[in-house]
Amino acid sequence: MTTTSTSSQIDHLLDETRRFAPTAAFAQNAVGSADLYTQAANDREGFWADQARELVHWHTPFEQVLDWSNPPFAKWFADGELNVAYNCLDRHVEAGNGDRVALLWEGEPGDERRVTYAELTDEVKRVANVLTGLGVGRGDRVAIYLPMIPEAVAAMLAVARLGAVHSVVFGGFSADSLRARIDDAGAKVVITADGGYRKGKVSPLKPAVDQALADRNGQGVQQTVQHVLVVRRGENDVDWTDGRDIWWHDAVPAASADHTAEAFPAENPLFILYTSGTTGKPKGILHTSGGYLTQAAYTNRVVHDLHPESDVYWCTADIGWITGHTYVTYGPLANGATQVLFEGTPDSPHPGRWWEIIEKYKVSIFYTAPTAIRSFMKTGRAVPQSFDLSSIRVLGSVGEPINPEAWMWYREIIGADAAPIVDTWWQTETGAIMISALPGVTEAKPGSAQVPLPGISVDVVDDAGTHVGNGNGGLLVITEPWPSMLRGIWGDPDRFVETYWEKFQDQGYYFAGDGARLDDDGDVWLLGRVDDVMNVSGHRLSTAEIESSLVAHEATAEAAVVGASDDTTGQAVVAFVILKQSYLDAHSPEGLAQALRSWVGEQIGPIARPRDVYIVGELPKTRSGKIMRRLLRDVAEGREVGDTTTLADTAVMSVISAQVK
Ligand code: WT7
Repeated sequence: MTTTSTSSQIDHLLDETRRFAPTAAFAQNAVGSADLYTQAANDREGFWADQARELVHWHTPFEQVLDWSNPPFAKWFADGELNVAYNCLDRHVEAGNGDRVALLWEGEPGDERRVTYAELTDEVKRVANVLTGLGVGRGDRVAIYLPMIPEAVAAMLAVARLGAVHSVVFGGFSADSLRARIDDAGAKVVITADGGYRKGKVSPLKPAVDQALADRNGQGVQQTVQHVLVVRRGENDVDWTDGRDIWWHDAVPAASADHTAEAFPAENPLFILYTSGTTGKPKGILHTSGGYLTQAAYTNRVVHDLHPESDVYWCTADIGWITGHTYVTYGPLANGATQVLFEGTPDSPHPGRWWEIIEKYKVSIFYTAPTAIRSFMKTGRAVPQSFDLSSIRVLGSVGEPINPEAWMWYREIIGADAAPIVDTWWQTETGAIMISALPGVTEAKPGSAQVPLPGISVDVVDDAGTHVGNGNGGLLVITEPWPSMLRGIWGDPDRFVETYWEKFQDQGYYFAGDGARLDDDGDVWLLGRVDDVMNVSGHRLSTAEIESSLVAHEATAEAAVVGASDDTTGQAVVAFVILKQSYLDAHSPEGLAQALRSWVGEQIGPIARPRDVYIVGELPKTRSGKIMRRLLRDVAEGREVGDTTTLADTAVMSVISAQVK
């Protein structure tokens, strides 16, 4: 183990030596090859210009590539014009691929719809005409609050087609969160549904919209919403406000299917997306059109190795998250892919639902989050092993560090010990994947996101912005602007500069807020949010590595560690662990907690050994599955638990507090 010199360095505790190279056959057919790295290194901007010309249709070709004359406010392809929806729809129909299935939709109750590119184009044109009729034009904001149904994708594309700006709000968010987002963006129209299916029941949406738009006396906020367009999905009774509310099934089929896609400048805003955030007030991250679409399409092709003619692609993210924007709506549709869209949850009505869908639709590319993988590990391999997953050829992971144990399970059980795994690091702010293996090129290391993509430049630096060198940990930065970068925080340019650019303003680096380590080959290992790093007796320890060690023990299903203040060591490691059911039945929790302390001590050294191990039934997570360590820190330090409003399940913290006591 190394000792630290500056406060930003993070100690390295775990060594992972397993390596998985792609097979020769995979490498040969892969979309992304090694020469992309050389091309991009020789001429980064020229490389992006090539991608933009190749993957996107420009109504007006661009001359200018990057305008970085006013950093950190970037412009990409600024004198070019395009229509994002045309790129995702009409051009595939015009190229003769109208009969290709765009969406293989599976509803939670088991109903299905296959939507071709021609059908989706027709629908989006009608919705665009309806929205025009409701007064939506270029630059207007439209809030979308829908379940995972084809109309959700159509709604996004219809807004984009008009040069308007969507703000998708995850359907699991409350009326208050919805209201805050509607107000911040000043939305003119809300598109919602009566409800959506979740775990066998209809969970209502329209009532939350009604509540969000209800009487605002005394709130000092001007009501901006003029109309609510409502999809019927759940056959729920809904309250109706005449003049304001419109049924989708009345308006859309009645509208004309003629609609010409107008060209908009590349920097026309495309969407605002509020970061869920494990800390702080939500920020409206702003993305624009040409650069975003370019990087979305490019990364979806080279990272997921998408062959649109033959693959069946499935990204399990909800459209309420950036992953759903970039890797459900924009990337795959720009590429003309066929993809699965699923309304429900992984375990309903039975724990094998996802694997059943993979078998049914012969999914070949599967992209999901470590939190889901770990929850499947908890239920055991017998469930996926009872389905035919042989269609899978590429696996992806996103959202959190994937610990080597979960990586190996994913590869062996889901990928038949053959499918390459891409661990993709990026953020709502980056818009698209930034660090990832290329599945046909990179020799994969379980647990590492590995290398910046061709065209992307990152570094790991100390507090002064100096490169830490291989073998060392520090802060992850992005050193050059990239096409899908956020263009700002909606309505708050100062916060944009402060949050991401001020820390390394001398170098002009984007600060991502994550800790990372470079291994001896220079590959990147993500270590978790810098705010979560612990300082034990002067050693900076990352949450990711200790959690990896805990999960590597056969009894553990999931683990979260935090640093709690400690009289002797400054901070002490405190672990919260969910055990596999089979171990809970057969062992005492006290015995297991003790065994886990020793295990970590042996695996990575006494410095990392948790002072306390609490066996719990659940961990506090955001709606997108990220562990909220600050709440666990409150418990570990015996404080009252802080703001829990962004938790997926707000009851979890009282259960954990009780278990800890
Ligand atoms: C944060 C961004 C990326 C889209 C979904 C989440 C963490 C994301 C990885 C990864 C380690 C990861 C980072 C990042 N993160 N991917 N492959 N390995 N950490 O988007 O909600 O904006 O969260 O998620 O901490 O900063 P987001």
